[in-house]
Amino acid sequence: MAFDFPLRDLYAGEIADPVGDLFLALNTPGLVSFAGGMPDAALFDAEPLRAAFDHVLAHDGRRALQYGTSEGDPGLRAVAAARVSRHVPTTVDQIQITSGSQEAIYLTALVLLNPGDVILVEEPTYLAAVQAFALVGARMVGVPTDDGGVLPDALAAAIAEHRPRAVYLVPSYQNPTGRTMPPERRRAVAEVLLRTGVALVEDDPYGELGFDGPTPAPIAALDGMAERTLLLNSLSKVMAPGVRLGWVRGQGRVLKALTVAKGAVTMQSPALNQLAVAHYLTHHDLDAHIDAVRVRYRERRDAMAAGLRDVLPSGAEVTRPEGGMFCWVRLGGGIDTRALLATAVRHGVAFAPGWSFFANDPDLSTMRLSFVTNPPETIAEGLRRLAAALAEQAVAYPVGVA
Ligand SMILES: Cc1ncc(COP(=O)(O)O)c(C=O)c1O
Repeated sequence: MAFDFPLRDLYAGEIADPVGDLFLALNTPGLVSFAGGMPDAALFDAEPLRAAFDHVLAHDGRRALQYGTSEGDPGLRAVAAARVSRHVPTTVDQIQITSGSQEAIYLTALVLLNPGDVILVEEPTYLAAVQAFALVGARMVGVPTDDGGVLPDALAAAIAEHRPRAVYLVPSYQNPTGRTMPPERRRAVAEVLLRTGVALVEDDPYGELGFDGPTPAPIAALDGMAERTLLLNSLSKVMAPGVRLGWVRGQGRVLKALTVAKGAVTMQSPALNQLAVAHYLTHHDLDAHIDAVRVRYRERRDAMAAGLRDVLPSGAEVTRPEGGMFCWVRLGGGIDTRALLATAVRHGVAFAPGWSFFANDPDLSTMRLSFVTNPPETIAEGLRRLAAALAEQAVAYPVGVA
């Protein structure tokens, strides 16, 4: 019999892999995937990035191939500080470079949460944050939301009841719902956090991807909030996820703890990537690139929002995001989107079933659809296939779904 490693209790029984499941499409030719939060690779600024890597290897190769400090390359930290300072005044030493915001979430969990500590999250929340918080043995408690994000009264009540170490929020074009917290709600949330003295982890990988006007400033920018917020940014959604770079903006002792944890986990983010990206950001106009990408993503948002209206059964609810990457659907009617996914894949389309985006009590009738990966014609084809899957599934789940 094969040796069975003595795994942590977390991995007892069947090991669910909701993140891995999002990559199903990569191995399934012909499948139209709305599953992963994948930027359209055809829109990457690939040639200037290649030139930046070439330049760094040609002119700074020894540094690019060497170990570096855990805080990150000073040049990249400086560019990051300048970008964050558009909203929150930030010095270079207030930036910790990370390998994407995913690592930032994990490092944050490592330095803030003892096993058993509570972290409050939105209901629903970003699924790989759930995975990261679970990995450190934290207890996640979901706080109710509406179209404007987390409800301030519910947040205050949850803080009083659970005494959390921190609150994790994605206020702009949230994953998975696509919703954005309006400025008044941000102020109300900040007021609750200031009154109760609870720390905020503000995850903001999508803030620069607004389609319908300016994105409200991060909560970290509100009076009194900078010192109690870890603000996470990523280059994945606006440049390329393959470079695996992002940063945390923070101040005080927490930054030192993050750097020490980063050293223990990965030592540093790849020096070559950091130097090349710093070079790119210094010599190219990332904002102009993002503007061009936003135009394309807006068309796709429109295509998916309009198409979904025709496809979904009456009684289903769908968000209309003002930016970011995702539409969020609640089918209701007793449908389990895990079963629907199996049917959908047979029809040649995939989405992310909603269950894994909930810290507690999942709504199994929910699903997330990414509109950015595919051009409008492919979105239309994918939605036709989804309609066929829904029609087939309605036979299996006749209750309440027209
Ligand atoms: C809310 C949120 N945070 C963090 C991440 C992680 O992104 P990355 O590690 O590529 O920066 C994602 C990716 O989908 C996300 O949606």
